[in-house]
Amino acid sequence: MFREVLLGWALGFLLSFGWVLGYFHEERWSPESPLLAPRVVIAMICRNSEHSLPYFLGTIERLNYPKERIALWVATDHNSDNTTYLLRDWLINVQKLYHYVEWRPQEEPRSYADEEGPKQWPNTRYAHVMKLRQAALESAREMWADYLMIVDCDNLLTNRDVLWKLIRENKTVVAPMLESRAAYSNFWCGMTSQGYYKRTPAYIPMRKQVRKGCFAVPMVHSTFLLDLRKEASRLLAFHPPHPDYSWAFDDIIVFAFSARMAEVQMFVCNKETYGNFPVPLRSHNSLQDEIDSFMHTVLEINVRNPHVEPSKYLPAPIRQPDKMGFDEVFMINLQRRTDRRERMLRALSEMEIDCKVVAAVDGKAMNVSEIHALGIHMLPGYSDPYHGRPLTKGELGCFLSHYNIWKEIVDRGLKSSLVIEDDLRFEVFFKRRLKNLLIEVQREGLDWDLIYIGRKRMQVDRPEKAVPKVHNLVEADYSYWTLGYMMSLQGAKKLLNVDPLSKMLPVDEFLPIMFNKHPISDYMEQFEDRNLKAFSAEPLLVYPTHYTGEPGYISDTETSTVWDNEGVRTDWDRKRSRKTHEQAEISTEAQNSDVLQSPLDSTARDEL
Ligand SMILES: *[C@@H]1O[C@H](CO)[C@@H](O)[C@H](O)[C@H]1NC(C)=O
Ligand SMILES: *[C@@H]1O[C@H](CO)[C@@H](O)[C@H](O)[C@H]1NC(C)=O
Ligand SMILES: *[C@@H]1O[C@H](CO)[C@@H](O)[C@H](O)[C@H]1NC(C)=O
Repeated sequence: MFREVLLGWALGFLLSFGWVLGYFHEERWSPESPLLAPRVVIAMICRNSEHSLPYFLGTIERLNYPKERIALWVATDHNSDNTTYLLRDWLINVQKLYHYVEWRPQEEPRSYADEEGPKQWPNTRYAHVMKLRQAALESAREMWADYLMIVDCDNLLTNRDVLWKLIRENKTVVAPMLESRAAYSNFWCGMTSQGYYKRTPAYIPMRKQVRKGCFAVPMVHSTFLLDLRKEASRLLAFHPPHPDYSWAFDDIIVFAFSARMAEVQMFVCNKETYGNFPVPLRSHNSLQDEIDSFMHTVLEINVRNPHVEPSKYLPAPIRQPDKMGFDEVFMINLQRRTDRRERMLRALSEMEIDCKVVAAVDGKAMNVSEIHALGIHMLPGYSDPYHGRPLTKGELGCFLSHYNIWKEIVDRGLKSSLVIEDDLRFEVFFKRRLKNLLIEVQREGLDWDLIYIGRKRMQVDRPEKAVPKVHNLVEADYSYWTLGYMMSLQGAKKLLNVDPLSKMLPVDEFLPIMFNKHPISDYMEQFEDRNLKAFSAEPLLVYPTHYTGEPGYISDTETSTVWDNEGVRTDWDRKRSRKTHEQAEISTEAQNSDVLQSPLDSTARDEL
């Protein structure tokens, strides 16, 4: 009885509760809607940027931020190239997507009267750029924009969320730390009493992201965000310089001083990777140097990040690839490694290099019967010096891949060829340096068979002999790797003549035997003619993309050998393990180069 009452009561309660819910429902109660994104003006001031614009604009249009909340402020002038037309075409295509576009082109003059080259900055140019930035700032204020983003036209913001991330920092002036191929970045940690750059111990740990965060710094430049809602921002100015200003007439120093006078602290954030930019060149460098340096920035990004795509609102840049003076350029690629093939072909296309893709022999797909049918036998007594094991299937495949190319060189009578593997990084000015090397070698009539352009030097305590009258070339001592090398017809013949398949060892051990520089005489004695004329570019022109332990490195713990288990898979990548022991030995330019004064290494300078 009691129970029934309780049940009835509970039922009534549920019903009335439902009615209450229904009541509210009929009133159409909704939560408050989210806010619109803050209004951002992006200011782009471009000059002679035809080469960088497709990539630069590609990163701008892919920013993860509602375009209808962005206004574009774009100025260009003093161009000797097609920057104006490219920008105009892009703006015509995208303007309907953005809230507003302000376009300030100026066709004439095409250069500053008192400048000696496009990399030189006379005061007239500094003043002009300062005035343009000031005009952008005033436009943004007039539009009641919340933020003004300044970004140089060769800065590649690869992090699509960069705008939101900077906004969330809630600073008046904040820059995303940009990466470059050297220690150079878009912030300073120290400033002299004259307003110049000063090295401080704090810089490198920040630049290398050993310390991560947003840091108060005396200078940011190139790409940064101004919060115009902050009261103090009203005192900021790019031009004219503050009345008390007495330092150098330089746009970035003038603005840093303005911030200091306004009591606005500049910040740089390095919590993530936000983007890249090229190292600035010197005043004597040409526009071509700038183009090559920028393209190198694109290549470097493409090694690790998802690659930078050119703008989809511009026609694809026209490429005219060539073979750099070689009869053939071979690129060895394992067919199942499509990722590597695509990356390399993109890199080569960006450098306008034409190549023939050669399918690598997949060692792991071969069984013992096939191996014997090819007449392949391991070099008697061979074992890997590091692991003490015999040849692996990966090494077998690698050897056969190179061997097949040497055969093709002889069959086609190719006088000089370049052979590259598919997992390499190109040094800055790669194409020009390699072309110059080939020209000098030919001009001096050097008798050569093999010239390494990427290798691991194994004999580091014995200096190598420089080749007279040829820049950046040494006689090669014991070296590993076959990342990249030049091969002459005569060289390929010499390698085939010794019947290397009948006494096989890893190809990068075989080559030093053939130029008589292998430390193990037992191996050497098994080959009679060891008269290969081998040299190496110095400094090298290519490096491996990944070293052991780095992100993206493909593990190669697989150690099965050709000569034992048929069933075990062995990967081509096994050879990388020898590539990797002394990764630290390969110094990055970041450690060597002076932050601001000498962005290029001395050799690159010599060549330019
Ligand atoms: C410059 O760009 C315009 C528009 O894309 C094109 O029509 C013109 O041919 C280009 N001129 C040069 C010199 O590249
Ligand atoms: C941002 O900074 C301002 C001071 O400039 C402060 O009033 C505000 O609360 C901050 N906003 C957030 C979300 O922290
Ligand atoms: C080895 O591979 C070849 C070609 O794929 C095949 O015809 C042959 O049967 C294989 N031999 C053995 C022992 O698996």
